[in-house]
Amino acid sequence: MTARIGILTVSDRASRGEYEDRGGPAIREYFEDVLASDWEPVYRVVQDEVSLIVSELRLLANQEGCCLIVTTGGTGPAKRDVTPEATLEVCEKEMPGFGELMRKVSLEKVPTAILSRQTAGICGNSLIVNLPGQPKAIRECLDAVMPAIPYCIDLLEGPFLETRPECIEAFRPKKK
Ligand code: MTE
Repeated sequence: MTARIGILTVSDRASRGEYEDRGGPAIREYFEDVLASDWEPVYRVVQDEVSLIVSELRLLANQEGCCLIVTTGGTGPAKRDVTPEATLEVCEKEMPGFGELMRKVSLEKVPTAILSRQTAGICGNSLIVNLPGQPKAIRECLDAVMPAIPYCIDLLEGPFLETRPECIEAFRPKKK
């Protein structure tokens, strides 16, 4: 089964075409590097508006059947930063460990990592993970959480994701 991965760039300016989106392509490139199993991206760009982000997340999770959805942007303290609110609105469960770990590793790189409110959660059978908008944050954050993502997708009865061990070792606990 080909895994579908949703890539959602949340940015007023990128959605209006005022600048080229660099976050979405960086997420795609990351998965091209680390995933060994078949996958395909479902790529969208949306404005920083809760109702629009909610619609895109529901579409990616329910209609497009994405097992994993990664957002970039809108996690900070500014008025228009509402990605975590939209994420929590569509999720039945929050997965706070993702945000905790990503902030921990990001703080080793930049003191302003504390400004990101990024989180993660479960919407139906999909795992949604927020990343900051800064393109270099994408690899820093995904490297930290990627080892646990394939097993999370297993628990959600999604496709079996395999990683290239030279990039990322997926950790799956042994069956009891
Ligand atoms: N995390 C990492 N790993 N690298 C970064 O450069 N930038 C921070 C933070 N997290 C950053 C990071 C900054 S400057 C901000 S304002 C917040 O993420 C929120 O960014 P966002 O609103 O674009 O999501």
